[in-house]
Amino acid sequence: MLKKDFPIFSAKGGSAFGGKNNKDLVYLDNAATAQKPRAVIDVINNFYTHDNANVHRGFYGLGEKADAYYEEARVTFANFINAKQDEIVFTKNATEGLNLIAHAWGRTQCKEGDEIIVSLIEHHSNFLPWQFLAREKKLKLRFWKPDQFGVLHIKDLEKLITSRTKAICVTYVSNVLGYIVSVEKIKESIGKKNIALIVDVAQAVPHVPVDVQYLRCDFLSFSVHKMYGPTGLGILYIKENRLHEMKPFLVGGGMATEVSLTHAKYLQSSHVFEAGTPPIAEVVGGAEAVRYITRIGFSAIQKHEHALVEDIFHRFEAYPFVRVLSPKEGNVGVVAFDIQGVHPVRGRGALRALATSNGVHPHDAASLFAERGIALRAGHHCAMPLHTFLKIPASLRLSLGLYNDERDIDAFFKALDDIKKIFD
Ligand code: ALA
Repeated sequence: MLKKDFPIFSAKGGSAFGGKNNKDLVYLDNAATAQKPRAVIDVINNFYTHDNANVHRGFYGLGEKADAYYEEARVTFANFINAKQDEIVFTKNATEGLNLIAHAWGRTQCKEGDEIIVSLIEHHSNFLPWQFLAREKKLKLRFWKPDQFGVLHIKDLEKLITSRTKAICVTYVSNVLGYIVSVEKIKESIGKKNIALIVDVAQAVPHVPVDVQYLRCDFLSFSVHKMYGPTGLGILYIKENRLHEMKPFLVGGGMATEVSLTHAKYLQSSHVFEAGTPPIAEVVGGAEAVRYITRIGFSAIQKHEHALVEDIFHRFEAYPFVRVLSPKEGNVGVVAFDIQGVHPVRGRGALRALATSNGVHPHDAASLFAERGIALRAGHHCAMPLHTFLKIPASLRLSLGLYNDERDIDAFFKALDDIKKIFD
C-alpha cells in the first residue's frame, strides 16, 4: 500500500530488469539500503532549487535559511532518538560514526592492556575500528560469542567484563540475523564501572524505536539511507558527559575557534566533529525521512512487518532444503538463509555444478532470484566473523522495508519454487 509513496516502484523503463517497468520490482534488500519516498526526494530537490547555501558561514538570507534548516534537522534527529540537540553529530554514515568514536574517544581513553568487548555478530563497521585500535594501542579484544544459532546472551557478556574493560561494542539488530539484542540490559551488567556502551543501530532505526535513554548507551551510530533517507548521511550520538573525553577527529574548516601558525583552539561542543562542509541537503532530506517514518508511526510499521515476518517463517517450513539461519524471535524483518543440496546429482549442465553437496552457493542463488525479479543480497554481508562462527562462507538475506507486502512474499516463494524445479 505504501509503495505509492515511493516513485521507484512506478518508474517506467527503470534499470531494475532490463528496462521493464519497475512495478515488477520485488525489492527485498532493504538492509543494504531502503528506497526513498517522494517526500524526501522533493525536499532535497526543493533545497537545491530554492535554498542552497553553505551553513555556519553566510551572513545573508540564503545562508541563514540553510543554517535554520540544518539546525532544525539536528533537533528532529535528537527527538527521534530521545537525545539532546548538542549530542547529535552529522557524519557520512554509520561506519564513519563508529570510526570517529574509536579515533576520537578510544585513542585518548584506552591504554596498553585495556580491554574492549566486541560481539561476534557485528557488521565490520563495529568490528574493524576496534580491531584496528587494539592493534595500534596494544589493547585486548574480548569476543562476546553468541550461542550456536548466533544469538547473543547477556549472561555470556557478564563473564567478559573485568576491571580493564573500557568499552562494549554491540549492534542493536544483527544485519544478517535480524533479531533485536537486549542492549537495554547491558548497563545493569556494567553497574558503576566506567565502561562505554557503543551501539550500532543502523539496522534497527527503520524498524523499531531507538531511544538512547532506554538503551543507556554512551555512543550510538546509524546511517540515514537505511531509514528511507538519502545516502551520505550518518547520525552519531555522543552522550554529553563523554564529550570532554574526546579529541578532534578530522580537523579543518568550521571546528576551530583560533588558529595560529603553530597552535589551534577547537570548539568545545560536539560540532567539533563536523569539520568541512557537511552533507547539508542530505541532512535536510534526512529530517524529512524522520518525519515520514513518524507520520506512519512505529506501531504501524512494526505490526505490518511483524505479520510479514510470521508469514515468511511459516512458509519456509514447507522448504526442507532451505536452512533458515535467522531466529524468528525478535526478528525485525531481516532473514538469512541458505539453500542446501536439493537433489544435487540430478541438476543438469552448469546448474548441476551449482548444486554441490553443500547446496547452492548464495551468489548463484541470488542470481537465480534476480532473473525472476527478486532483489536480495548474498555473501557475508560484511559480517565475516559471524559467518566464520556459524561455519558458513556466505548466506542469502531477504530484508523488508515498510512498503513490502504479501505480493512480494508470494513472488519470493514462487521464485523459490521455480529455482527448486531446476534442481529436481
Ligand atoms: N550494511 C549493509 C548491509 O548489511 C550495506 O547490507
